[in-house]
Amino acid sequence: MLEIRNLTARIGDKQILNGISLTVQDGEVAAIMGPNGSGKSTLSYVISGRAGYEVTDGEVLLNGENILELDAHERAARGVFLAFQYPLEIPGVTTMTFLKAAMNAQRKQRGEAELSTPEFMKTVRSAADKLGVVQEMLRRALNVGFSGGEKKRLEVLQMALLEPKFAILDETDSGLDIDALRIVAEGVNALRRPDRSFLVITHYQRLLDYIVPDSVHVLSKGRIVTSGGKELALELEKNGYRDYVAEPV
Ligand SMILES: Nc1ncnc2c1ncn2[C@@H]1O[C@H](COP(=O)(O)OP(=O)(O)OP(=O)(O)O)[C@@H](O)[C@H]1O
Ligand SMILES: [Mg+2]
Repeated sequence: MLEIRNLTARIGDKQILNGISLTVQDGEVAAIMGPNGSGKSTLSYVISGRAGYEVTDGEVLLNGENILELDAHERAARGVFLAFQYPLEIPGVTTMTFLKAAMNAQRKQRGEAELSTPEFMKTVRSAADKLGVVQEMLRRALNVGFSGGEKKRLEVLQMALLEPKFAILDETDSGLDIDALRIVAEGVNALRRPDRSFLVITHYQRLLDYIVPDSVHVLSKGRIVTSGGKELALELEKNGYRDYVAEPV
């Protein structure tokens, strides 16, 4: 279970998160919606431990442990995973090498043995096939020259390989064609388990037809202004955010 308690955070002197409280139970898929600039990506970065954000108050408890006190790689080892809105390009490192390093780093942190190359190849091939990621992509430099949709598929492949406990998908649907959206959503659905939870950030209710959320939360000006079920996403699609704007802090 992930419990966010009164989380406030800033970048430099700019306050971005203004007291977020949210509980995501094991097995739950929570969707976060909200206008551009409301703090959705910032929330995902603060949970995953990206540098540059100052937490000024609050806690993020993963099964009772305050992960804000841990480094990003320690959080990853605990099973926190973030699929980036804008995946990073790393020239000079092949996708395959990156995936192997990511899996082995996590295994090391967990005190598990490194995967042998044949074991790794078998695992990665089977997961890649399911998500329609072709082998040729895996031999190319990470994300370099990948199309928007290819980058998003690769994020979901990483997620499948790292078997997270708490996965955040930041606009994983943006830039996907209709078939890719279905493939990616099926990939996510296949990973749904009673002991794994998801935070799905999206602008479009369409994704939530495929990945059906248990709860929907609306962020405005760094605060959750309303929460509901799947029907809330349908209402937002119809009416926009006009009924859910946070008062200035
Ligand atoms: N490094 C930074 N320096 C200054 N302001 C920043 C920085 N990073 C983010 N912000 C600001 O924080 C606010 C929240 O940004 P964030 O990326 O979290 O929004 P978002 O809800 O993910 O938006 P979108 O739907 O467009 O992805 C924005 O006003 C943004 O300009
Ligand atoms: Mg964002």
